[in-house]
Amino acid sequence: MRRKFVAGNWKMNLNLADAKALVKAIQAGLPAKPGIDVGVFPPFVYLKSVAEVLPPSMIMGAQNCYFEAGGAFTGEVAPQMLKDVGCTWVIIGHSERRHILGETGEVLKKKVKAALAAGLRVIYCVGELLAEREANQTEVVLRRQIREALGADVTLDSVVIAYEPVWAIGTGKTATPAQAQEAHAFIRGEIANLYNGSVADKLIIQYGGSVKASNAQELMGQPDVDGALVGGASLKAVEFLGIIKGGIAAPAGGK
Ligand code: PGA
Repeated sequence: MRRKFVAGNWKMNLNLADAKALVKAIQAGLPAKPGIDVGVFPPFVYLKSVAEVLPPSMIMGAQNCYFEAGGAFTGEVAPQMLKDVGCTWVIIGHSERRHILGETGEVLKKKVKAALAAGLRVIYCVGELLAEREANQTEVVLRRQIREALGADVTLDSVVIAYEPVWAIGTGKTATPAQAQEAHAFIRGEIANLYNGSVADKLIIQYGGSVKASNAQELMGQPDVDGALVGGASLKAVEFLGIIKGGIAAPAGGK
């Protein structure tokens, strides 16, 4: 069975005091053994302080990393540095990094490999733009993004894929559960083609894009939706706890 994974991507939000208070408020409402994975992804500069208040029932990751281990790369952060301050995960290929910061498939592959080599686990994000969906290109885009960063030279044991349709991120327009399920089933099928059926069956695939407490359980109740990558709604403890509750209530997928 696949364990659900609910992750809060804080993006470039909060201040230090609010970051620590948010973790404490989530902890206060979290069952001691939630039975699902719950993670927070604070901005780089707050990671160490968040690690100091992080309970054992939660995990922490970063929103990005560089692909070199060290050296003259002004402003960048190496995967090992993230481990050093308590990260066990890193998000790679978020649509804001692809479309606002111009990260290419080639760069993302290097980042995935560097993060895994450093012993971090990776949430690799994929998702189509509205224009691509309207032009019936969703599957073409997802296949390309999967193949750009994953494949024979990347083992998937420590990789989660997040399907985040760009038109649903921060817009309040959530994919319907049926649209999410369709894309997730397609992604799982692509992974089966690229690796094999048993790797595909084990792979956690999160949905992201305007997930809220009110739609979380239905989305995560889809057979191929194994969790949520949450932006805006992860900044409010009550809302995020509601999403976690939805994940706990939704049945686990897989064999
Ligand atoms: P959102 O963002 O929940 O605010 O739509 C999701 C994400 O970008 O990970």
